[in-house]
Amino acid sequence: MADMMWAGRFSKEVDERVNDFNSSISFDARMYKHDIMGSIAHATMLGESGIIEMSESLAIIEGLKGILADLESGELAVDPNAEDIHMFVEAELTERIGYAGKRLHTARSRNDQVALDIRMYLRDEIDSIVKLAESLIETIIKLAEQNMTTIMPGYTHLQRAQPITFAHHVMAYAQMLLRDRERLQDAKKRMNVLPLGSGALASTTYPINRKRVCELLGFDDISQNSLDGVSDRDFCIELANVISILMMHLSRFSEEIVMWCSWEFKFIELDDAFATGSSIMPQKKNPDITELIRGKTGRVYGDLNTLLTMMKGTPLAYNKDMQEDKPAIFDAVDTVKLCLKTFVPMLDTMRVLPENMRNAAAKGFINATDCADYLVKKGLAFRDAYKITGTLVAKCIEKGLTLETLPLSEYKALCETFDNDVYDAINLETCVMQRKADGGPAPECVKAQIEYVKAKLS
Ligand code: ARG
Repeated sequence: MADMMWAGRFSKEVDERVNDFNSSISFDARMYKHDIMGSIAHATMLGESGIIEMSESLAIIEGLKGILADLESGELAVDPNAEDIHMFVEAELTERIGYAGKRLHTARSRNDQVALDIRMYLRDEIDSIVKLAESLIETIIKLAEQNMTTIMPGYTHLQRAQPITFAHHVMAYAQMLLRDRERLQDAKKRMNVLPLGSGALASTTYPINRKRVCELLGFDDISQNSLDGVSDRDFCIELANVISILMMHLSRFSEEIVMWCSWEFKFIELDDAFATGSSIMPQKKNPDITELIRGKTGRVYGDLNTLLTMMKGTPLAYNKDMQEDKPAIFDAVDTVKLCLKTFVPMLDTMRVLPENMRNAAAKGFINATDCADYLVKKGLAFRDAYKITGTLVAKCIEKGLTLETLPLSEYKALCETFDNDVYDAINLETCVMQRKADGGPAPECVKAQIEYVKAKLS
């Protein structure tokens, strides 16, 4: 450990246990590319500003490019004994180019370096999560377009409530995911601010050009306060929050799929490639993917909690606590990507069973509101119509009938206003077609929803 970069002040080597405990290389090695890109921009600026010699700047840049290429090709492996990725890259650089390598860390601290690296790493990850969310939205649209007239019961309290279409039901998730996508893009905006130049906490006495680095690395702006630049992790927390909401949506959808493929519902059947069997019960076909997504949602909420709790008691500016940001936010990012990557093809291959949905819709009196509305349209007050219909439903239950099969005489016995056209009014197809207020389940309205989502995506 005598060659620890910060060894100068110390008279003893670090205890091996402390060394392992302190190290973050096992989880921050994944940021190698962003670390190197950040260092290349920093070295470029140092050279241009005359803080180091131009020749040194060029040597550093060449050296860093070589390290990146060798890491990508597999020629060079990250040293698992390095303290962190920043130390590893710097040590490798100095090994390769000698003295000039030691000048890279001029006017920089690992505190602003790590704040930079995570932002760069996460903004790329946001882009890939957005792409995955978009492919899920597209898959939902496809499913909706195939089921514009597939009637199913809509539920409240998991009780059959009113008739809708399967297209309308799944398009609700497209709206949620559209907002998730917007939240991701929004989080990226606030994340995309350059902290480099904040130094350890109090900026630097060197004449650095932060705007130049900002431009080189594609940031929208530079951070305005050096303490804030190195010491907040709100952008990680915000992303974990956005991912948690997205996971919550996936989890609700998953829960519905778990129900829908049960024998009790049988609204859908999962493709064999996206279901699993039981080790003991030969008849089983289990929706493991959706259950795992439900389960992993809890794990992502845990990551969010980790970050919030980690930050709540840390004084300004950097504290080592903050090294714990990475396992948590990386886990949230990895998990949501994994879930989306599996959910999309599962949904895409899932078979919809319209007859079973239609059968379920035929039971449960989901056209009772329409029956009451029929009377209202003929002049009754809704409250009276509601009461009459309730009595009719009770009568149906007593006689084992539905509103469709109850004879007109029974209708008329309760209210003279009923006529033969009541059967048209409570026909499930009519009930759906008539729900054509903006945002409703009528196919023309769902078509408009789909157009809206498509326009947002393009
Ligand atoms: N590995 C550290 C982290 O992830 C890098 C910053 C270290 N800074 C320090 N002052 N020890 O936070």
